Amino acid sequence: HKLPEITNEPNPTYAPNSPEREKLMQAVEELRSQSPQHVPLIINGKEVKTGNVERQFMPSEHSKVLCTYENAGPEHVEEAIEGALAAKSSWENLPIYDRQAIFLRAADLLSQKYRYKAMAATMLGQGKNIWQAEIDAAAETCDFLRYNVKFSEEVYSSQPAANSRGIWNRVEHRPLEGFVYAVSPFNFTAIGANLATAPALMGNTVVWKPAPAATLSNYVIYQILQEAGLPDGVIQFIPGPAAEITRKIFDHPEFSSLHFTGSTKVFKDLWKEISNNLDKYRGYPRIVGETGGKNFHLLHKSADVTNAVNQSVRAAFEFQGQKCSALSRLYVPDNLWPQFKKEFVEKVNSIKVGNITDPSNFMGPVINKLAFDKITGYIEHARNAPECEIIAGGKYDESTGYFIQPTVVETKDPFTKTMKEEIFGPVVTAYVYPAEDFDGAIELANSTASYGLTGAIFSQDRNAAVYATSKLTHAAGNFYVNDKCTGAVVGQQSFGGARASGTNDKGGSANLLHRFVSPRSIKENF
Ligand code: ALA
Repeated sequence: HKLPEITNEPNPTYAPNSPEREKLMQAVEELRSQSPQHVPLIINGKEVKTGNVERQFMPSEHSKVLCTYENAGPEHVEEAIEGALAAKSSWENLPIYDRQAIFLRAADLLSQKYRYKAMAATMLGQGKNIWQAEIDAAAETCDFLRYNVKFSEEVYSSQPAANSRGIWNRVEHRPLEGFVYAVSPFNFTAIGANLATAPALMGNTVVWKPAPAATLSNYVIYQILQEAGLPDGVIQFIPGPAAEITRKIFDHPEFSSLHFTGSTKVFKDLWKEISNNLDKYRGYPRIVGETGGKNFHLLHKSADVTNAVNQSVRAAFEFQGQKCSALSRLYVPDNLWPQFKKEFVEKVNSIKVGNITDPSNFMGPVINKLAFDKITGYIEHARNAPECEIIAGGKYDESTGYFIQPTVVETKDPFTKTMKEEIFGPVVTAYVYPAEDFDGAIELANSTASYGLTGAIFSQDRNAAVYATSKLTHAAGNFYVNDKCTGAVVGQQSFGGARASGTNDKGGSANLLHRFVSPRSIKENF
């Protein structure tokens, strides 16, 4: 069969008075006035109430509850696993184009019918402004759903290179034996969608635990999948307490894979727990994880300063720096620093921070109290460190929402705490290096932090750009030349990093889908 044409979902502009701006703001208002919504578990296609109810708050106005949701207990996890296992055989035996059709249809439903609903839940629940919600809950989610279908064709068509006379060799790309556990983060609605649907597309059944702070937006995506025809039990939706759910899942002999995005620490803990349980399992579980980052922009002495400034503002402060790809380390040569500092500080000081329902706010709140305290702790550390100076921002206010001003730290010590540890908030630290010591700056970009997710070289000198690219081979799974280190587009730049940043299985590629099949080689003699 031949697939319908697959291209990236276009982004409307949401210009003032545009029809899309009006429809979106209406959806936001509606959701706000109808809050709190209620979110059940969905097990075998049915709503389940557990009686143990939690709340998801609006980070822009933290006194307001966006939704209440049911917390899964051990008995619900058990039911979800057994249901997923029971649904497996008919799901994996469905012709691939029938599975593909469900996800393509879901993308169209999201694009046309539920775009504003999914965006509104992402704006109010996760604190994204209009454009950040658009590129995530609308465009990137559609792109994952559609491009994974395209990439699945690559997987299924990957066949042996040779047959001897009288022999036919072939490979069946079968799903894993057992069920997949998807654990998704708050910061991208699209990642939740991808973590659950990529393994499902390949014929697996999935137990999905969304992040508490993204419960409503993830539920909207789940409902779209149901409307698109996802059979009962193929993806089980079970919000709830991470540790308890995970313990129950890892206890099960049919556990076959962890598909995770979240913090490095949690990922390492989960990996250890899986290792300790290895003897329980039928096979070796596939562990696929995308975790933290400590991402950098490195400017060569020939860099276009204004471009580097603009890209750095976006990379560090869009969505309040809460992207695993966000910029947090800047290396600027001393010949460019005076101009860079002036332009950067000016731009950063002009950023408006506030409630995301006001489209003039470039930045909204950070996700919750825990994040607010952690990030402001780093700001206070920098304020008190003799080697650091806060040259922009540094203020914060949690009286109504979790608002932190975009903050720039200049340091004399390239190994200061804010240069090494992931902050996951709107704080970037700059180190000025001697322009003639480009090798030294490359070495700092390469080895200061333990991560390897994203990075960029800014240079108008082609040789310098090539040199940095060749030296920084493992410092960034996503490497950019004269562009910001955030904003990978599905189908254009597959995404993921190595070192402490994850297993680098590249979301948005056939590579990822290969992780969710267990191929069988068949040789037949004629
Ligand atoms: N995929 C997201 C980005 O590249 C995290 O910014």
